[in-house]
Amino acid sequence: MNVIVNGALGRMGQQVCKLLDENGLTLAAAVDRAGGEGVYQNLTDYTGPADVVIDFSNHASAAELVDYCKARNLPLVAATTGYTPEEFAILEEGAKTVPIFQSYNMSVGVALLARLVKQAAAIFGGCDVEIIEAHHNRKADAPSGTALLLADAVKEKRPDSEYVFGRSGQHKRQPNEIGIHALRMGNVVGEHEVIFATDNQTISLKHQAHDRALFADGAIAAARFIVTQAPGFYHMDDLLGP
Ligand SMILES: NC(=O)c1ccc[n+]([C@@H]2O[C@H](COP(=O)([O-])OP(=O)(O)OC[C@H]3O[C@@H](n4cnc5c(N)ncnc54)[C@H](OP(=O)(O)O)[C@@H]3O)[C@@H](O)[C@H]2O)c1
Repeated sequence: MNVIVNGALGRMGQQVCKLLDENGLTLAAAVDRAGGEGVYQNLTDYTGPADVVIDFSNHASAAELVDYCKARNLPLVAATTGYTPEEFAILEEGAKTVPIFQSYNMSVGVALLARLVKQAAAIFGGCDVEIIEAHHNRKADAPSGTALLLADAVKEKRPDSEYVFGRSGQHKRQPNEIGIHALRMGNVVGEHEVIFATDNQTISLKHQAHDRALFADGAIAAARFIVTQAPGFYHMDDLLGP
């Protein structure tokens, strides 16, 4: 399978390029706006053989990316984060013509966690739910997009949920609260724990990322999946199967 990697010089792009060979896949073209030796500056500069595009570049490239995939009838794995609503709509529109796989967290483990969280939220309808996430001390945004994704998974089963970010002062906990707490420390790659507590038991579901390579692994798994699909908009839950 011939893979075009867009954003190939970035941290994630480099990981993907490194892992392709180990996974028996071929790097068709490395693309990054900086260009350089063996790196195409623009997607349109590459017209050779290709089966799929993996994108870890920047949300602003959405239109160019979708135009390229549509013009060449190529499936796309859109792993970049931070799409504006307009850019996201471009992906959704593109998915009417070519298969597009999109996830803000390419970890198969987190996808499984979200599924388990939905199950627990449905079974323990009235319990208290708290989410704790931890990341390295360089991360600027809080809470993480993944913590919100997990809160949304609970809310899907408990639509009256209200998110409470951190807690201090004199406020009694409301039954429909989902407490979301962010720790920033050291070099932690990413940890997410969802706790379900009733009066007499606690269930804790936790995912720990040890290496950013897991996102590259997930993107490669998504690429293998998407090349066999019809046009449409796909997500990690589709990859997990029924
Ligand atoms: N879905 C997931 O699981 C997941 C996991 C990790 C990261 N991400 C996301 O993936 C993206 C990349 O992350 P990263 O840590 O690898 O960032 P990074 O190190 O900044 O790499 C991005 C690369 O893409 C290049 N680039 C920017 N705009 C481009 C364009 N229009 N066309 C081609 N290349 C372009 C950048 O060039 P310059 O250096 O010149 O800007 C840079 O070389 C981010 O949005 C990040 O949040 C997603």
